Amino acid sequence: MTAATVARVLDGARLMPVLTVPDPGTAGPLADALTAGGVRCAEVTFRTHDAEQVLKTMASHGGLTVGTGTVVTPEQAERAVAAGARFVVSPGFDEEVVVKCGELGVPVVPGIATATELMRALKAELDTVKLFPAEPLGGLRTLRALAAPFPGVRFMPTGGIDAVALPGYLSEPAVLAVGGSWMATPALLKSGDYAEIRRLTAEAVERSMPCPT
Ligand code: 3PG
Repeated sequence: MTAATVARVLDGARLMPVLTVPDPGTAGPLADALTAGGVRCAEVTFRTHDAEQVLKTMASHGGLTVGTGTVVTPEQAERAVAAGARFVVSPGFDEEVVVKCGELGVPVVPGIATATELMRALKAELDTVKLFPAEPLGGLRTLRALAAPFPGVRFMPTGGIDAVALPGYLSEPAVLAVGGSWMATPALLKSGDYAEIRRLTAEAVERSMPCPT
């Protein structure tokens, strides 16, 4: 599966809300809030009991291209894709997950934190990777340093990024999209504060726009 395919699935969307949703009953209003805020894609992490149901609800919403995250086994990839995930994100590089995604025909974005891991992803014929965890690893400085020897590689930095750091990442030519949970935190979901989720999403979308010159 090639990076072009990941980029095709995202279809120009560059902001990736990362969602950990314990209660599948909140998936519908969450999808409404995200689309009202202006995002076009989302990553549902596979780390809650009902992640498959959440994926199904969000994938059938219609306004979002939904993928899955925190996939660490081929079996999880299979279940997520059956539930409607259009792409698979993993916190690290696992060859079995990559092979399974190839068989399933969905793009996979493995997490990498070093040049060696990045080279393993290249060997698996991938050229889009998730820089994870981006901010603790050194943020933009690290991203630029890792990108320099690998000019064809596109990055999806995730981990510790917020609305303030977002524009800097998006202005890097090597960055395909930026992921993060700050728009729909577990606390906001727990309190059902969809108005705030919508506000934070709209703010992030606004910050994703190129500055008028
Ligand atoms: C994750 O998988 O948890 C994502 O990387 C989100 O990171 P964040 O919560 O720091 O935005």
